[in-house]
Amino acid sequence: MLTLGFMTLQLKNEHTYFTEIAGRALKYDIECVRFIPASMDPTTEMFEGELYSHQQNRWLKKKFPLPDVLYDRCFYGEDFHSRQCKGIVSWLKSKDNVRFLGYGLPNKLELYEVLSNSKLSAYLPKTVKVTSPLMVQSLLQTFQRIILKPSNGSQGNGVYYIEMQKRHYIVKTDKLEQQVSRVFADEALLLNWLERLLKKKEFMLQPYLSLTNEQHEPFDIRSLLQKDRNGNWITVGKGIRQGKVERIVSNLSAGATVIDYETWIQSIPEQKRNFINEEIKFILESLPHLLEENFHPLFELGVDIGVAKDHSIWILDVNSKPGRKVLLTSQPGLQDYLYESPLLYANTIMERSILE
Ligand SMILES: Nc1ncnc2c1ncn2[C@@H]1O[C@H](COP(=O)(O)OP(=O)(O)O)[C@@H](O)[C@H]1O
Ligand SMILES: [Mg+2]
Repeated sequence: MLTLGFMTLQLKNEHTYFTEIAGRALKYDIECVRFIPASMDPTTEMFEGELYSHQQNRWLKKKFPLPDVLYDRCFYGEDFHSRQCKGIVSWLKSKDNVRFLGYGLPNKLELYEVLSNSKLSAYLPKTVKVTSPLMVQSLLQTFQRIILKPSNGSQGNGVYYIEMQKRHYIVKTDKLEQQVSRVFADEALLLNWLERLLKKKEFMLQPYLSLTNEQHEPFDIRSLLQKDRNGNWITVGKGIRQGKVERIVSNLSAGATVIDYETWIQSIPEQKRNFINEEIKFILESLPHLLEENFHPLFELGVDIGVAKDHSIWILDVNSKPGRKVLLTSQPGLQDYLYESPLLYANTIMERSILE
């Protein structure tokens, strides 16, 4: 029997997702455990976590050795616990006898380096690493409207829109309940604010794209790609995230709602529909292979694609630890598939490693 281990930063994270998977694991001859990387005892390399019991339909406390296959669902912050877990996970990834469903992706800037030199380059917004407040100010002169966002990504948090007016500057950022905006009366005040912001973390800069619909709501297309049991990439589904009117980000964490892809595409002028469908198909079919050629093996990807007012198409974000909420909301029929695909692929990985 194969053991599949879910790794998270808190034991109860993604409780529903892991419990749904674990509840279906027996028919694939898989046993599921969940644990926090930092729970490892360095002398014995035993982990302390929970095992899913099919008799009791619940998770039970348990000590166990490293599971056969690992599903990394750790979402790191800047805190000590995150850093500690990240260290252990990268050590695990470097070991020969450990198998991960997917090995993750580097940060947004490193992804940009690779993708901007690929056949997908035309779909990438120009992106630069921010090195100083003056650089931001000079690019504002060029573009008038820009976006600053953390290179490490954070579910729509820390995304800043900056606009240059004749004499003053407007900065906006979306919080859960509301948008916060500030006006800087002159350049010195803006530079001062940027100075403090850039000390917090690494940011990247892009020109602001009007990725909004006719109602001025920001939206994007969220696709989930996964490997099937034969290791072939498939597009599991697509949904639309639609943010609140005049907001900047379309992340669900900022209050966006979900609509299904078919409803959305019908709202596009008929002569544009085929073109958009074809472009998206091209992106989704090329992307996983490009990434695996340049980085490490992956199991799944969440791809955010923006469509501007002029119907130009942009790859906004690629996540190796995608959420499932958009699909579960827009295509509830996919539920069983979503909860079984990690089990199917865990078996594939295990079979392949035995053959090696
Ligand atoms: N260049 C841009 N122009 C306009 N909106 C953007 C731009 N970049 C990002 N956004 C908006 O901000 C959201 C979050 O950006 P993203 O790069 O996906 O970061 P995160 O990792 O925080 O999700 C996007 O889904 C999109 O709605
Ligand atoms: Mg995103």
